[in-house]
Amino acid sequence: MDKHKILFVCLGNICRSPAAQGIFQAIVDRNGRSRDFFVDSAGTYSGHQGELPDKRMRNAASSRGYSLTHRSRPVTLSDFFDFDLIIAMDDSNYSDLIHLAPSVETSRKIKKISSYFTSSTFDYVPDPYYMGRDGFELVLDLLEEACFNIYSGL
Ligand code: 4NP
Repeated sequence: MDKHKILFVCLGNICRSPAAQGIFQAIVDRNGRSRDFFVDSAGTYSGHQGELPDKRMRNAASSRGYSLTHRSRPVTLSDFFDFDLIIAMDDSNYSDLIHLAPSVETSRKIKKISSYFTSSTFDYVPDPYYMGRDGFELVLDLLEEACFNIYSGL
């Protein structure tokens, strides 16, 4: 069986998408499916390249048992060929990705994370960068729900 290759994308790749990556990887590992998945994250903005996730996000995630060790990197052209599923955190990330996609076929891999929400009233994952602690907890709540649903649907 080919691996499922999943890329989570936000703006800075230091808050939302590395958290999504960590949560999804934890679900995969918990289910003993590590060999069947390759999970990564990237940003549409390269200004934080090489950085660990924001300390506030690392702390909030750590309290729920997730260790976030990804280093920020920008989306590249090869990502559109290397991944099967590319998941945008908000409408702005989604439209940036649609514009970057090199073909119609690769653009079909891009999905909004909100399409995996079931109980949430949100239709995007808000950028927590200028929010308080509650913002980071909200992001983790939304990502846990979406990641569970993405995993369950594969
Ligand atoms: P993220 O949050 O997109 O969830 O990683 C952000 C972090 C930093 C910036 C923007 C969004 N920034 O512009 O510095």
